[in-house]
Amino acid sequence: MERPARLCGLWALLLCAGAGVAAPAETQPPVTNLSVSVENLCTVIWTWNPPEGASPNCSLRYFSHFGNKQDKKIAPETHRSEEVPLNERICLQVGSQCSTNESEQPSILVEKCISPPEGDPESAVTELQCVWHNLSYMTCTWLPGRNTSPDTNYTLYYWHSSLGKILQCENIHREGQHIGCSFVLSKVKDSSFEQQSVQIMVKDNAGKIRPSFNIVPLTSHVKPDPPHIKNLSFHNGDLYVQWKNPQNFYSRCLSYQVEVNNSQAETHDIFSVEETKCQNSELEGNLEGTICFMVPGVLPDTLNTVRIRVKTNKLCYEDDKLWSNWSQAMSIGQRANPTFYITTLLIIPVIVAAAIIVLLLYLKRLKIIIFPPIPDPGKIFKEMFGDQNDDTLHWKKYDICEKQTKEETDSVVLIENLKRASQ
Ligand SMILES: *[C@@H]1O[C@H](CO)[C@@H](O)[C@H](O)[C@H]1NC(C)=O
Ligand SMILES: *[C@@H]1O[C@H](CO)[C@@H](O)[C@H](O)[C@H]1NC(C)=O
Ligand SMILES: *[C@@H]1O[C@H](CO)[C@@H](O)[C@H](O)[C@H]1NC(C)=O
Ligand SMILES: *[C@@H]1O[C@H](CO)[C@@H](O)[C@H](O)[C@H]1NC(C)=O
Ligand SMILES: *[C@@H]1O[C@H](CO)[C@@H](O)[C@H](O)[C@H]1NC(C)=O
Ligand SMILES: *[C@@H]1O[C@H](CO)[C@@H](O)[C@H](O)[C@H]1NC(C)=O
Ligand SMILES: *[C@@H]1O[C@H](CO)[C@@H](O)[C@H](O)[C@H]1NC(C)=O
Ligand SMILES: *[C@@H]1O[C@H](CO)[C@@H](O)[C@H](O)[C@H]1NC(C)=O
Repeated sequence: MERPARLCGLWALLLCAGAGVAAPAETQPPVTNLSVSVENLCTVIWTWNPPEGASPNCSLRYFSHFGNKQDKKIAPETHRSEEVPLNERICLQVGSQCSTNESEQPSILVEKCISPPEGDPESAVTELQCVWHNLSYMTCTWLPGRNTSPDTNYTLYYWHSSLGKILQCENIHREGQHIGCSFVLSKVKDSSFEQQSVQIMVKDNAGKIRPSFNIVPLTSHVKPDPPHIKNLSFHNGDLYVQWKNPQNFYSRCLSYQVEVNNSQAETHDIFSVEETKCQNSELEGNLEGTICFMVPGVLPDTLNTVRIRVKTNKLCYEDDKLWSNWSQAMSIGQRANPTFYITTLLIIPVIVAAAIIVLLLYLKRLKIIIFPPIPDPGKIFKEMFGDQNDDTLHWKKYDICEKQTKEETDSVVLIENLKRASQ
């Protein structure tokens, strides 16, 4: 397996020309025993021994870079490790030199490569992607390779430094064309947690397909849970929205969108929240740990439906592409809906009818006062001497009646006198 050391004369020439060094420095002998191994799922480690016969006054440094001249490094260690998705062949070239000065010409470079696992590349799964939900569980999905039988039984293995060993994902499921699997991966307080990526490998039980690898950095691919709206209120014609962020996230690490749908104007507005602070400091103190945003230009007397979503931002994360789901919607104001009209249509006649009845009763009462009924003297006397009642209206009525009765009595007496006189 030992590959012959490769001369990189042209490269060294370019380096010298680039630095404009005329004096040819004495170069060191090449490193020896360069070898490569894999740890975890795809932590690739290259190791080598110091060159034989190096100048005694030289403090040895090792220059290394990948086959495509990426990630140059000059260091005193005799090893270099890298997390590499082993879907392609990757090579490291190593040389020795006597200082960390980049312009120093290193020794002849020695190269060692690692190839992907055996198997038909067309059989490997494709579009292997993972999302870290709520900083608490990871979901990976993939598409079957082209040269695979439909009943292939997939397995997913994952590794993270906090887990201590390689684990197998248990809940393989299908989502339409895609196949997926979710596993628990909770953020821990340890500050180095997010510096370590998760290594993923998907293969099949029968060993018929070529394994696929992915390396998922934990500072990206994060999908937060949706926020929770706590309160909507109008103050001086402005709509104030207050919500609680998903747990685990600092407010400054999230970006926000507030959606406001107005049912009457049939508008659909989305506001990107830059400043999550309301001028109304009263509101701020109202609900502990909530975020507040003032939405301008909302019609207060109509039905407004509000939803919010969040995503990570570049202050704390490497990407800002994955929006959370929308929060539950919350509404404020009144809807001019059909049931409201029906209720109105039913209530109005009832009110009119009631008004008419009241009016009729009132008119009848009025009639009684204007045109009093012809009294029955006997009944009145009985009432007067029977039960005492200090209702003033009654007394007034009695006054009138009394006078009339007296007049009537007088006229009866008069008629009787006349009768007697005529007899
Ligand atoms: C390289 O490895 C061989 C065998 O492991 C060993 O004998 C030899 O001393 C090593 N070379 C150096 C320079 O260490
Ligand atoms: C190494 O350094 C010593 C003193 O610093 C010097 O005398 C000697 O010549 C040097 N050797 C080489 C090979 O440059
Ligand atoms: C690196 O080497 C070049 C030429 O050999 C020299 O001009 C330069 O000062 C050196 N730089 C350092 C940091 O030693
Ligand atoms: C999100 O994470 C928090 C804290 O770890 C946890 O309490 C909550 O249940 C998680 N939400 C979901 C939907 O898993
Ligand atoms: C996958 O598993 C099922 C049930 O265990 C088995 O019937 C089927 O043959 C397996 N497929 C392959 C390609 O091994
Ligand atoms: C919402 O905020 C308003 C104004 O501060 C307050 O009057 C109301 O009680 C709050 N409603 C809820 C459900 O907290
Ligand atoms: C708001 O309106 C948009 C566009 O019509 C629609 O897609 C969305 O579902 C509506 N939101 C709610 C909460 O109904
Ligand atoms: C987000 O929405 C999708 C589709 O409606 C649903 O399957 C998923 O469970 C939701 N996720 C969360 C964290 O609520």
